[in-house]
Amino acid sequence: MADIQTSAADKKEKEFFTHVPQEAPGFFLKGCHQYDWGLKNRLSRIFNPNDGRTVMLAFDHGYFQGPTTGLERVDQTILPLAPYADCLMLTRGIQRSVIPASTTKAIALRASGGTSMISPMEEWEGEIDGKKAKFGRPGFEPLSNESTALNIEEAIRLNASVLAVQVFIGSAYERQSLKNLTDLVDAASRYGIAVMGVTAVGRAMARTPQYFRLATRIMAELGANVVKCYYTDTEFDTVTSCCPVPIVIAGGKKLPELDALQMCANAIAQGASGVDMGRNIFQSDAPIAMMQAVQGVVHGGLTAEQGFAKYNDLKASGVK
Ligand code: R5P
Repeated sequence: MADIQTSAADKKEKEFFTHVPQEAPGFFLKGCHQYDWGLKNRLSRIFNPNDGRTVMLAFDHGYFQGPTTGLERVDQTILPLAPYADCLMLTRGIQRSVIPASTTKAIALRASGGTSMISPMEEWEGEIDGKKAKFGRPGFEPLSNESTALNIEEAIRLNASVLAVQVFIGSAYERQSLKNLTDLVDAASRYGIAVMGVTAVGRAMARTPQYFRLATRIMAELGANVVKCYYTDTEFDTVTSCCPVPIVIAGGKKLPELDALQMCANAIAQGASGVDMGRNIFQSDAPIAMMQAVQGVVHGGLTAEQGFAKYNDLKASGVK
């Protein structure tokens, strides 16, 4: 753990080789060239073999926060976006109840859960300046107390290409969430299904390059085939370069469309293999237009400004 706190002055500088791509002889995806046929084929349904990139549409938020803004009616708001996504990230409940079984999109299935936005805090009473006060337990994140939320037979029945598991490095339940990851990797690898480790953030889990380097690398070392994390304004190329498997970025809270597109473009330029975005698409004023703009940036080589122009043109022509 000391590594995250040291400065360059403390010891030898790290070397991330950010300009040297990691080789993957015979396959298009970083770190995946030695997998078996089935796993490679499932990854090829998520990541486009022509450019090695993906636009995953994330709408699994309900697994811990219920009817998230924009997801009150998935049939109304998400189904029209699905044709523009490479992969749908969802819960099994929404997949069975709303998504047509005729879809040909790759499925990223939420495979951890068990907590909610109103999970009780662990608190104790103390005093500040002689007055009674309540304190949160340091490092305690109520949401981090997850378990695995489906078994491998269910993942096969639902034809999942990848299972998504939340990992809470630095939280009170770090060990449990890493066990969830390794249990799912053990189960999924028997059937050639991929596992995506999803980096959680919270009070004890800062959104810094140091934190994301640590968290994404730990997940890859423990067997995650794909890792999801947030973009950082600085040093993001070091996050991608020291993670030996593909990284996709989450979008996070809703941003102005141009800013969200700039984040996508920056992440791709700095080694991300795609995006796994939710709110910045389905909470946009024109989600279908935004979805196509993100596609243009990730797969079409558009700059953020060109993507934004595409968004505005589509919106002006009546695309919602
Ligand atoms: C969060 O835990 C969910 O798994 C979402 O899939 C993830 O946060 C990505 O969605 P957004 O782009 O809205 O952050």
